[in-house]
Amino acid sequence: MTHHEQREIRYAYEFERRVKACFIGAGGHAYRNVYPALRYAPVELIGICDLDLSRAQKFARLFGAERAYTDHRAMLEREKPELVFLVTSYNPDGRVQATDLALDALAAGAHVWMEKPTAASLAEIEALRAASAKAGRLVMTGLKKTFFPTIEKLKDLIGSPEFGRLTSLNVRYPQSLPPPRDRSDLVKMQSFLDHIYHPGAILHFLGGPMERASYEWEATTGAAVTNVRFKSGAIGSLHFASGQSGSSIFERVEIIGEGSNAIVDNGSRLTWYRKAALPSYGRAASFIQPDDKAALLFEPEHSLGQLYNNNLFYLGYVQEILHLTDAILDGKPFTKGTLEAAYEIMKLFEFFRSAEAGVTVTL
Ligand SMILES: NC(=O)c1ccc[n+]([C@@H]2O[C@H](COP(=O)([O-])OP(=O)(O)OC[C@H]3O[C@@H](n4cnc5c(N)ncnc54)[C@H](O)[C@@H]3O)[C@@H](O)[C@H]2O)c1
Repeated sequence: MTHHEQREIRYAYEFERRVKACFIGAGGHAYRNVYPALRYAPVELIGICDLDLSRAQKFARLFGAERAYTDHRAMLEREKPELVFLVTSYNPDGRVQATDLALDALAAGAHVWMEKPTAASLAEIEALRAASAKAGRLVMTGLKKTFFPTIEKLKDLIGSPEFGRLTSLNVRYPQSLPPPRDRSDLVKMQSFLDHIYHPGAILHFLGGPMERASYEWEATTGAAVTNVRFKSGAIGSLHFASGQSGSSIFERVEIIGEGSNAIVDNGSRLTWYRKAALPSYGRAASFIQPDDKAALLFEPEHSLGQLYNNNLFYLGYVQEILHLTDAILDGKPFTKGTLEAAYEIMKLFEFFRSAEAGVTVTL
């Protein structure tokens, strides 16, 4: 099944069976984008925990949870949830708070849905893998970019007869790589770690595992351009466009196949250039291609009060939760935001922490 043939969305109260869930973290991102997404998921929120009790209580009232806590262990013990959501932040040493919380949730027998970053090192991802296997419970990281309808469409194009196999790709995303002297310091790398999960998720989702990489770095802005060779034989570039304007679109993704290419601009506008010949060089008076070879444009209308033109959907926030609840409730395939995907992104993070500019490294 391709992504665009997916089922219709149901509202939370329409599900007969809902997963009993607790939520750790009552912060900004959770308020804006994760709790509101639960309106469209088979989730029954029973407990909310935050270090700030009054915020946990206010969130519980707003989002319909029964009880509020400040101690997540007490919550796990009392509520015995099937699923725990983690949307927390960083420890003072730069480690990811959710990594340890995920281990606690697994030990309490719950599945875990966590925000990115999953962890701050490969070793921590391995510990999560072992704990997940031991508990027989799933751990999913919300790699929202892999749920953008546009990025899913790119994935569907790859390997189709009309597009061919992926031969090269380009991901442009504004983030800044700190100077070499700061890269061993997790606190100074926090913002880089926080963001690398986004372009890293797209690279891995579309290109698969990487074989080797090298990068060049610009000292004024921390911009970097990275060359990647994937194990499939495809090649790619990752452009950290730090230094761009705050009024600019953030990202652009382009995939190139065999005689066809497609571009996603600004997350929600996809242009697919279908296979077509170049009009006769030096002679053609018109650039108009036959209709069956013309480019196709996909972009949402912004007039109707629909789901697809709401950021909960075009940024994949609802779909990334349904991916896990589908696996838990219906045994559907669990393929995105896996610890294997997080491991590949973490490899990229460790590459930027340790590799010198201009040197090719096997990943
Ligand atoms: N995917 C996205 O689009 C996106 C966007 C923004 C942020 N994020 C991610 O979301 C996460 C949260 O970001 P934020 O900006 O909302 O952070 P935040 O600091 O506003 O919220 C974190 C909350 O977690 C709570 N917390 C931390 N440790 C806790 C514990 N042990 N028990 C209970 N509560 C605890 C804090 O009290 C705080 O309220 C980060 O991982 C960030 O990377 C993702």
